[in-house]
Formats: sequence, C-alpha cells, structure tokens
Amino acid sequence: MTVRESGALDIESIREDFPVLEREFDGTPLVYLDNAATTQTPERVIDAIVEYYETYNANVHRGLHQLSQEASIAYEEAHDRVAEFVGATGGREELVFTSNTTESENLVAYAWGLNELGPGDEVVLTEMEHHASLVTWQQIAKKTGATVRYIRVTDDGHLDMDHAKEVIGPDTAMVSVLHVSNTLGAINPVADLADLAHENDALIFVDGAQAVPNRPVDVEAIDADFYAFSGHKMAGPTGIGALYGKKAILEDMEPFNYGGDMITKVTFEDATWNDLPWKFEAGTPKIAQGIALAEAVEYLDDIGMDRIARHENELAQYAIDRLAEFDDVETYGPPAGEERGGLVSFNLESVHAHDLASILNDYAVAIRAGDHCTQPLHDKLGVAATARASFYVYNTREEIDVLIEAMDDARELFA
Ligand SMILES: Cc1ncc(COP(=O)(O)O)c(C=O)c1O
Repeated sequence: MTVRESGALDIESIREDFPVLEREFDGTPLVYLDNAATTQTPERVIDAIVEYYETYNANVHRGLHQLSQEASIAYEEAHDRVAEFVGATGGREELVFTSNTTESENLVAYAWGLNELGPGDEVVLTEMEHHASLVTWQQIAKKTGATVRYIRVTDDGHLDMDHAKEVIGPDTAMVSVLHVSNTLGAINPVADLADLAHENDALIFVDGAQAVPNRPVDVEAIDADFYAFSGHKMAGPTGIGALYGKKAILEDMEPFNYGGDMITKVTFEDATWNDLPWKFEAGTPKIAQGIALAEAVEYLDDIGMDRIARHENELAQYAIDRLAEFDDVETYGPPAGEERGGLVSFNLESVHAHDLASILNDYAVAIRAGDHCTQPLHDKLGVAATARASFYVYNTREEIDVLIEAMDDARELFA
C-alpha cells in the first residue's frame, strides 16, 4: 500500500520500493536530493528489466520465433502505455521512443527544423531553456539561417508573458519551451504559449523533462505539437526517453536516422519509410528500457500523479521555508507559497555551490551543484553556479532537515 486512506502518501512504504535508498555511507543513511538529474528506480522496474533478459530477450519486429514475438508485443504495447500516461489518445503512432529528452529535441530539430526553417523564420525559446533545447535550436538556426529569439524571465522567476506576446509573431516558425524549469522550479503556462504559437501558425515543442515525472501531463489539453521527456527522471531506466508528436506532423516529417526497421521497401536506388512510430526508430531499439519505462509509468499511476505533484510541492515549500531562516542563503525561482516543481536552487553566501555539494556528500546528502545546463540563465542571475536540492516521491521533510543541519556545518567550516 502506497497511499493511506486519507489520500496522503505512505512514504515509508514507498521508500521500501527503492532498494538504493537503503544505502548508508559509513553508517550514515543516504539522503538523495538529486532527483531532477536522475530519480531512483523501484524494484518493479528493475524486475521488468530482469524478466525481459531472463525470459524473452530477442530482437523485435524481425523474428517469427516465440521470443521475438513476445518481445515485439511487449515493446509495442509499451508505446501505447506511455502514450496513455501523457494523454496521447493516438497511442503508439504518436509516441516515439528516443534515448532521452535531448535526443527528442534533436530529432525534431533535425527532422523538422532542417527541412522547414530558413532565413526570415524565427525560433522562440525562453531564457530559462535547458541546453538540450537551447544549443540544439541555436545550431539548427545557424545551419538554416533562421533567427533565435528568447522570451524574458522576470526577476521573480516567471516567464514574462507580455514579452512572449511581443516575441511570438508572424515570423515565428517554432516555439520551444520547457514546461517546468530545472533551475527555477517555475511551472510555465505552456497551454497559453501553445495558443500563442498556433495563432501565429507556428508549432510548439514542450520540454517536459521536469514535468512528466512530477505532475499529471495531458499533451492534448496543452495542444502541444511535440512533447519530450526522459525515463531516468521518472523512476524508469536510463537510455530511454520519449517524443510525443501529433500524428499528422510526424507523418509529414522526414526520418531522423536511417537504417534497418525504419523502412518498408528498399531498392538499390531508394527506400520508403515504415509506419509511425517505427519510421523514427532506426536499428535495434531500446527494447528492455522501453518495456521498463512502461512499468515505471504503471508504478507512478498506481501512486497517483496528483498526489506526487502535491507531495513535491509541499517538500519544495518546506525547503524554501527552512532556507529562508538564514540571512546568508539566496534562493532562486518563484516566491514561497507559489506552486512549483519539486526543486529549489540556492546559494550560501560564504560557500561556493561546488564546495557545499562536496561537504554535503560527507553527510551522505546528494545534491547538485553547477549551472544545471542553463548557463545563459545563470549569467542572467549573475552567478556561475547554484546548489540544487530536488525531490521525488520518496523524499521526506526529515531529509530536508538533514540538509539544513549539514549546511550549518559547511558554514562553520568556511567561517
Ligand atoms: C528541463 C530539462 N530538459 C532537458 C533535460 C535533458 O534530459 P536528458 O539528459 O535526459 O536528455 C533535462 C535534464 O536535466 C532537463 O532538466
């Protein structure tokens, strides 16, 4: 049982699902607060991988033998399950398995952007964009002669929607925005941005790497043309991510990679492409990972995405409140009390973020320090690095207390 009768999460029981949380370092229990980078994996998901390799490991779509048929069915159905999880009613035809969010971005940038963009076209990003989107669209713009423009971030960590209305216009061809900021925790109004994009005949790509793991997402309610996320940030395995795309758009797009499995007919002169989504999954795909991602989605749904979002928001608010007890701590992102993703970036005045993270490691507390792949945003914030504590379904207030106490010791060490 992971949900109590009151509807609150039974965190103790959830923690038992994650073997790695039992780890201790020199007798000190691990406090894992680096979930925005990668979440831990529940036993069920690990079992799904083991079961695949122990009982039906085979290549998909190629064999007539029993193992290949079993693997093919499980792999194909995994697409349907993950599509359903994000509200894509078109099922597998609208859900491509990729390596991660970054590859989903590159898939669209290369397969759509290289063919559709040209001089005079604008790609609109935000100042809080992750490098996965920022660097990718910058380079595609350079190759095609398109221009990249940025929607401003306000001092209180929101997107400036008035500026968005100025920047998104008739020349906009693509709007690529993140749903939840991995640095600020801000939740962006992606449905409004989709409306703005569509009013201007542009497409919208939503980077959901920090949203899908943590809150209910409905790609059709958002009216996203593309929506991307990563398995390893949502209790799934590494090496797998997903790209949702509207069927009509995916059908019109050129393939991203060429090779086996993505074709229907090949001659010495030319080739024709396979049906969706296989047209975008060249070569042997990520079979075990895809099947395990579907199990992760099942696990999260059993707990309830609404509950997970509430729990993470509560932890983030608690962390902000505790950090606010100290004059020498600066936090970034939307103000306390406002709903946000389950993470807080901050700086301790006298201790560099990297030093802080390494001291916290001595207390078995795992946090992130650096630019979190948002260098331009850090430039705007006027800092080279921040420390980031990020939470998942198994984290507790007590773990945040451990973080705060360990920070006290770091302060003394550097005093
Ligand atoms: C908002 C956001 N977008 C994209 C990514 C890239 O994810 P991946 O490394 O799984 O491709 C991350 C990872 O930190 C992220 O937080």
